[in-house]
Amino acid sequence: MDRALLVLYGSQTGTAQDTAERIGRQAQRRRMKVRVEAFDSYNVAGLIAESLVVFVCSTTGQGDPPDNMKNFWRFLFRKSLPAGSLCRLDCVVLGLGDSSYPKFNFIAKKLSKRLLQLGANALLPVGLADDQHDLGPDAVADPWLKAFWEKSLALYPLPAGQSLMRDEEPLPPRYVFHFLDDIMEESSGRLRVQEDSGPPSSAHPFLARVVFNHRVTSLSHFQEVRHMEFDISGSNIEFTAGDVVMMRPCNAPEDVDQFCQLLRLDPQSQFTLKPTDSSTAAVPGRLPQPCSVRHLVESFLDVSAVPRRSFFELLATFATNELEREKLTEFSSAQGQDELYAYCNRPRRTALEVLADFPHTTAELKVDYLLDLFPEIQPRSFSIASSLLVHPNRIQILLAVVQYRTIMQKPRMGMCSSWLASLDPSQGDVYVPLWVKKGSLKFPRDPDSPVIMVGPGTGVAPFRSALQERISQGRTANVLFFGCRSESKDFYCRAEWEEMVKAGQLILSTAFSRDQEDKIYVQQRVREQAKLLWDLIANKNAVFYIAGNAKQMPTGVCDALKEVFQTEGGMSASQAQEMLDAMEKSGRFQSETWS
Ligand code: 2AM
Repeated sequence: MDRALLVLYGSQTGTAQDTAERIGRQAQRRRMKVRVEAFDSYNVAGLIAESLVVFVCSTTGQGDPPDNMKNFWRFLFRKSLPAGSLCRLDCVVLGLGDSSYPKFNFIAKKLSKRLLQLGANALLPVGLADDQHDLGPDAVADPWLKAFWEKSLALYPLPAGQSLMRDEEPLPPRYVFHFLDDIMEESSGRLRVQEDSGPPSSAHPFLARVVFNHRVTSLSHFQEVRHMEFDISGSNIEFTAGDVVMMRPCNAPEDVDQFCQLLRLDPQSQFTLKPTDSSTAAVPGRLPQPCSVRHLVESFLDVSAVPRRSFFELLATFATNELEREKLTEFSSAQGQDELYAYCNRPRRTALEVLADFPHTTAELKVDYLLDLFPEIQPRSFSIASSLLVHPNRIQILLAVVQYRTIMQKPRMGMCSSWLASLDPSQGDVYVPLWVKKGSLKFPRDPDSPVIMVGPGTGVAPFRSALQERISQGRTANVLFFGCRSESKDFYCRAEWEEMVKAGQLILSTAFSRDQEDKIYVQQRVREQAKLLWDLIANKNAVFYIAGNAKQMPTGVCDALKEVFQTEGGMSASQAQEMLDAMEKSGRFQSETWS
């Protein structure tokens, strides 16, 4: 019997990919022939010939599929697909979501429904893993996977005479490193400037020069927010308000050095990579061949993230030191998850810090396993805060530098934001690889439609872009609600807003949460402006936008807006909700939130 398993993943931040790869390793231990692929790297027409598929997908934004699943998604929902086309397929769907978002695991649920509609046979109900669970998404995924393996081994049993591979037995690495005797030209280890003429993409980013990078919150303010500008001359990049810029950060040089020391690697040495099994893996296109160890560590291996359980599973297979092995084995076991959480997730310990805690095992790591151990550094997205109409050939962002304390002695630093913050153009030219993606916020085509924008903190970024764009097109019906902690400390872009207000191009309402005893938030200002907002929405076809931190703010603003509908529009609570739903459906209420 053909014991082939296909694991397809749709992953935005790498969690679904990591889970898919873990499933792949579990399948290898069950001696199955397994391929693990992103949805959009897979030739979807081949699905009709597959026998067993695990679909792993996350849900992003406001219930959207991840970027590397978008083409698959479009194909799967074609009306022309016949109802029974997947009738030979046994499958399961595992969703990775976050229940603090209203559309929790929306994509996994919808995918599962569609597969059934096409005749596929689901071995289990869709798994709904939740980031908000105290013990992380594995708390749901683990028992679900256990049930899956029981089902699939019953349907596709081990061949006679074969047994499961033991957990201590290391699986072969996905790639083999061949080190070169002579150092080749260093260009191999550098990012190259875009050569072809298409718009820059993840595979071919544009190297944009940093023009300026300065702090816009006062030095006494707890939060560092920076205004950065990038030169995109000659890049073919086009964007409009609401779009986002993608950037892939690098590890800090001192982390790269420490990593190489711990693993006893020479950063200058160069290697070429070969997949162990070319039918199931290809060399990542982003890695030059040959590649230097420094380049691999600096720009590809994510050593700054909190490692996942799979990291400990693999690390444990290298441990010869008794104490270290015991600990690592515990961390990778189902029973050890509370302890792993306390050791790793709660204090936000990085993979590099873990390596330093297990020096014997780290020194014994085989270099071939580096790409199995460390996930690839993922790109980060930032709302573009400028318009090409006002700043041609430039992209600007507002960057909130992520830094916080846990019980760890060293403060925790957001990898991308601290890397960007460290780039200093006054010390010579510095470049950042970037590309641009369509965002979810769309601004009205109708020149007469007013916009009402609620953007506390760096949530104001896409609205700065929209205001620049709209005002240069002569559209002056703009309302902005901005919130920050203090008028004197973090009211960035103030002069720009005030100029627009003076010119009659903007109605601005500000909420300074901590300049007085009681907190004032943007939603209070929304309530205070009920008459104006109702007039704009009910009579002038205005579009309402929210952008910013996902925690409580969007709900607070929605509640305030519904109150406006009730007080000014004479609606009941349920009518106000219906009106908001209808506005969302027609694109007149839009939000972009992040955590
Ligand atoms: P706070 O930090 O004083 O609570 C930008 O971060 C601004 O958003 C800050 O003034 C912050 O106030 C405010 N903010 C925090 N929680 C909010 C919420 N639930 N609704 C609206 N604004 C909020």
